[in-house]
Amino acid sequence: MEAKTKTQAELRQEAEHYLPGGVGGAGRINSALGYAFYIKEAKGCRLWDTDGKEYIDFNLGHGSAFLGYQHPATQAAAEKALAAGILAGYETENHVQLAKRVTEIIPCAERVRYGNTGSEGTMICVRLARAYTKKDKILKFWGHFHGLYDYMMYNAHTPMTPVEPGSIIEPCQESAGMPAVNDDLVVVVPWKDEAALEQALAQHGDEIGGIIMEPINYNQGCIVADKEYMELVRRQATAHNIALIYDEVLSAFRTGPDCAQGYYGVTPDLCVLGKAVANGGAMVVLAGKKEVMELVGPLGEVAQSGTFTGNPLAVATALASIEELCKPGFYDHIYAASERMVSGLSELFAGAGIPARVQGLGGRFGIFFGSTKPVERFDDTLDRDVEMRSRFVRAAADKGVYFHDYGSLVAGHHGVSASHTMADIDEALNRVESAIKGGLS
Ligand SMILES: Cc1ncc(COP(=O)(O)O)c(C=O)c1O
Repeated sequence: MEAKTKTQAELRQEAEHYLPGGVGGAGRINSALGYAFYIKEAKGCRLWDTDGKEYIDFNLGHGSAFLGYQHPATQAAAEKALAAGILAGYETENHVQLAKRVTEIIPCAERVRYGNTGSEGTMICVRLARAYTKKDKILKFWGHFHGLYDYMMYNAHTPMTPVEPGSIIEPCQESAGMPAVNDDLVVVVPWKDEAALEQALAQHGDEIGGIIMEPINYNQGCIVADKEYMELVRRQATAHNIALIYDEVLSAFRTGPDCAQGYYGVTPDLCVLGKAVANGGAMVVLAGKKEVMELVGPLGEVAQSGTFTGNPLAVATALASIEELCKPGFYDHIYAASERMVSGLSELFAGAGIPARVQGLGGRFGIFFGSTKPVERFDDTLDRDVEMRSRFVRAAADKGVYFHDYGSLVAGHHGVSASHTMADIDEALNRVESAIKGGLS
């Protein structure tokens, strides 16, 4: 006899005895709800929790399920890979084919390597930048997130007060347990602030080996730069012998198969493609210029490998996923679905007299409460109404629409997948409308 599925309440209670906070990773907790969901199944754009409650999902595994859950193409690829054995530590034909495909569609990709997580991917890029330039400091931008390790866990949200335009920002560690000496290895400036960049490079250009950025700052709810600024950063990096790294863990494939670098028409030296790349498969792709990438072993001295590096299951789903998103019309649907959601939410908020700004680009969008003002810089996110956001996320979840709340420190991000039909979007908007009518309490 099949064992009865435990309820959400039972699982939460049991989990707390074994998992700190009841979860396998802190980001699982939806801050507005105060708990994580225990999911029984996910299909298309929908989730079912262990109580059987159904949600239309706009989190999508933190942006990983870009085709939608159980997409036939990635499901078939995963099943074929599983049938070959749960391999780790071997190369397959798919490893070669995926690398070839990536070099065909990603502008900076002359050579490719694989990794497991976005954190690992940016860590290797930082190491490559240092090895290539023989300079140790890394310039990063205020409000940009690059993973959870000691070199990069700085200023993804702090300080949460406005900074003087044109200034270099004090490095703020965002985890306990980070060595203080690492502060000397990071230079932080506001994004889209040309004067601050120029000042940082004038002061530290001969010590900075890498500039890393989210080319579309989706982690703060979708903040976009203009081409001129992106070209300026590119020029400055070249002029100062600095490797330019685009962290496309979240932006990969949202705007087109050529990612944010194709969207701007500006090519970095290195990039990391994460989340959407394998439609939920656990992997990232590192790509970049041949002369930098070939510094990795066995050709060069930069260490990069791992037991699960390029695990064949994820490599198979990545290859299948990329084929899907290169099909004609794929992005017409993504843009149309996203636009319907963004404008639909904006209209619902306006109709209910709720001050909110919804803005998106390609497959992902952000929702900011407290003002209808466009969000153009990280500073513009600081006076948002996070209490109202929590009330909204709770009310929407109650009606069966899932938005993840990453906590009061970050704006967070939401998105659509290829599996969200226009009917799904309309159904979600109807549910949101009834959530708003019920009051955001
Ligand atoms: C831009 C960016 N970089 C890096 C990471 C870290 O990726 P991972 O969670 O796969 O380690 C994330 C995760 O959200 C991200 O959004």
